[in-house]
Amino acid sequence: MEIKEEITKRASKITEIVQEYLPKEENFQKTVLEAMNYSILAGGKRIRPMLMKATFDLFGGKSSAIKPFMAAIEMIHTYSLVHDDLPAMDNDEYRRGKKTTHAQFGEAMGILAGDALLNYAFETATLAFEEEPTNSNIGKALRVLAVKAGVFGMVGGQVVDVESEKKPDEKVSREKLDFIYRLKTGALIEASMMIGAILADASDEEVTKIENVASKIGLAFQIQDDVLDVVSSFEELGKPIGSDEKNNKPTYVTFEGIDKSKEDVLKLTNEAIELLHGFDKEDKFLEQLFMYLVYRKN
Ligand code: IPE
Ligand code: IPE
Ligand code: MG
Ligand code: MG
Ligand code: MG
Repeated sequence: MEIKEEITKRASKITEIVQEYLPKEENFQKTVLEAMNYSILAGGKRIRPMLMKATFDLFGGKSSAIKPFMAAIEMIHTYSLVHDDLPAMDNDEYRRGKKTTHAQFGEAMGILAGDALLNYAFETATLAFEEEPTNSNIGKALRVLAVKAGVFGMVGGQVVDVESEKKPDEKVSREKLDFIYRLKTGALIEASMMIGAILADASDEEVTKIENVASKIGLAFQIQDDVLDVVSSFEELGKPIGSDEKNNKPTYVTFEGIDKSKEDVLKLTNEAIELLHGFDKEDKFLEQLFMYLVYRKN
């Protein structure tokens, strides 16, 4: 099967899994429940759960705990986008080809739907204990999910990202830019792959190696996102192009230019694939997915 078809098939399967865990839209807090479901079902490539499952498969995982964690990482990622689009942050009106959550439901509901999705991610992930009460890997996976989403992970990166755009006169150093990317985007990609490995009972040493692989892929992923913000179209992306320029945001592209940025996406991906080969595994889907991401158009 063509890799593109395989990826589309896996993304639909992930959406079905996410749907299994979504809340019913009922009772007095119905509006926020609708906003949560709206944002997560609007579309999206489902890359993080896909990376999680592919890493799990690479290590021959069998645990049923993987499913709630796949849904949980997509919930956390979606919350990060809902908040990222808010007027106080990137102030964007479209996402995944639809109105952003705050544009559709109002700012207060945008904030609350984000909060609710973040919490609901943990409500969902902890369901894994019901499936396998004695599996100690679940606790380890939860800790990774919590830390990588938090102030030493994604939230921390978003803080520095927002601060650096508010001070356009003070030039952001390359060191700071790398910090932003490693945290705002890298952290959730690291969490995805690490959790896949952990739930497949990989050793601590293997999990650390996977974290390094994911770190390179996360950096490549954000650089490509910056490139697409310049060279793509609204139709293709489903979100506005030129968002970074509008916000005066220092990006990898403003530092290195488009061509070097594209080269570095490929270079980082090849480095990640090289590290992956160190595991000497048969399964080739993960590296095909990495390569697919280099040339993605959305
Ligand atoms: C967008 O992530 C935000 C970044 C970290 C670059 P994705 O490109 O994975 O967005 P969706 O989930 O497909 O909408
Ligand atoms: C997003 O970075 C990182 C997040 C943690 C949400 P961007 O602000 O570049 O993401 P897009 O381009 O809006 O998807
Ligand atoms: Mg942003
Ligand atoms: Mg944004
Ligand atoms: Mg972007």
